[in-house]
Amino acid sequence: MARADRALAAAGYDGLIVASGSLRCQYLDDSSYPFKPNPQYQAWIPAPTPDSFVLYRPGRQPRLVFHQPVDYWFLSPSLPDGSWAAAFDLQVVRDPGQLRRQPELASGRWAVLGEPGAATAGIGDHDPPAVVLPLDYARAVKTSYEIECMARASAAGARAHRAAAAAFADGASEYEVHIAYCMAILAREEELPYNNIVAFGSHAAILHYQHLERSRPPGVRSFLLDAGARHAGYCSDITRTHVASDDRFAALVADLDAAQQRLTSLVRPGTDYRDLHLAAHREIAGVLVRAGLVRGDPLEAVATGVTSVFFPHGIGHLLGIQVHDVGGLMAGPDGGTRPRPEGHPALRLTRELQPGMVVTIEPGVYLIDSLLAAAAADERRHWIEWQLVEELKPCGGIRIEDDVVAQDGAPRNLTREAFATGR
Ligand code: GLY
Ligand code: MN
Ligand code: MN
Repeated sequence: MARADRALAAAGYDGLIVASGSLRCQYLDDSSYPFKPNPQYQAWIPAPTPDSFVLYRPGRQPRLVFHQPVDYWFLSPSLPDGSWAAAFDLQVVRDPGQLRRQPELASGRWAVLGEPGAATAGIGDHDPPAVVLPLDYARAVKTSYEIECMARASAAGARAHRAAAAAFADGASEYEVHIAYCMAILAREEELPYNNIVAFGSHAAILHYQHLERSRPPGVRSFLLDAGARHAGYCSDITRTHVASDDRFAALVADLDAAQQRLTSLVRPGTDYRDLHLAAHREIAGVLVRAGLVRGDPLEAVATGVTSVFFPHGIGHLLGIQVHDVGGLMAGPDGGTRPRPEGHPALRLTRELQPGMVVTIEPGVYLIDSLLAAAAADERRHWIEWQLVEELKPCGGIRIEDDVVAQDGAPRNLTREAFATGR
């Protein structure tokens, strides 16, 4: 409410309507896609349901215009009963069009957030940047309530990761590992924050590998799992890379893990996240040289772009209601862009860290055919130990990803905490 008060006052609006969003049907069909609520609505309502609205005027109790249709095809949502529900003036409607009957809407200037729909058409200004931008910018800094939600999402994610690792050790396929993950936390796929990345062997070289092979090929040497969970809408985003035997690849995983922990210690108020990304390139250069994948001086390997062959994505991003939370590149609450460092087009976060920001730290080392082929065709080929590249290619790649809170003093690593306490 405080964030909305500031945004509405600065932009000259009298009130805010936030739409939860509607179910959408598949083309030429009557079955719907899973409901994915408007994240701006999720920021107000822990348990979103379709075609509902938050109606807020500064200084008044927020109203929840709750759509509860009379329906015998589908189960209508039950009235909210969480402790949060008492904060709202609840108004139940049978038809979303009844939003228009709210007496407040007869006057004043209204900002409407959410996808356009019949219920809000013509009521006010849709997604005015003067309101949306400061809200997006503010969402980067989490309240203690939000951090607790993310700690619980991390706990669920760690529990499911453990079950998935055990299934892998038992000989399961990618698909069976995925099912073990969902079973451990009783999650439906559509409730996960993103599609699980369950990548055996060379599949780990595809950053967002999206398939789930039903059978397990023989001789799998490695397993990358990038998978999270949600609590009250808030996400965790966790990656672990497992090895089947104690070989050179296992040593590389252990060295990258140590580098990852040094990088997480840099998550502190005042750190420019762009510097953290550049520090990651230096750390990864050291890992590559120690492994023998890259020859020569690590700092020169960074300068010549050799590290980007093995690590082509950003060191991380803001995390919250969205896995890649909004506002990562904003220059300030009124918008503008804080540029990425030259030569780093994939970085999703360029802001200076503040207390309460939650970010991921996810360094990786991958053996990606297309990037290696490009390097082989220019001067970078002299830096790379090609025989070792071929030896490690069947392992695909490594990513190690934790969710970390910037705060005064040492950072809080929600992921390591969850794995350590097993709560
Ligand atoms: N799971 C997507 C990411 O790590 O950004
Ligand atoms: Mn991530
Ligand atoms: Mn991830």
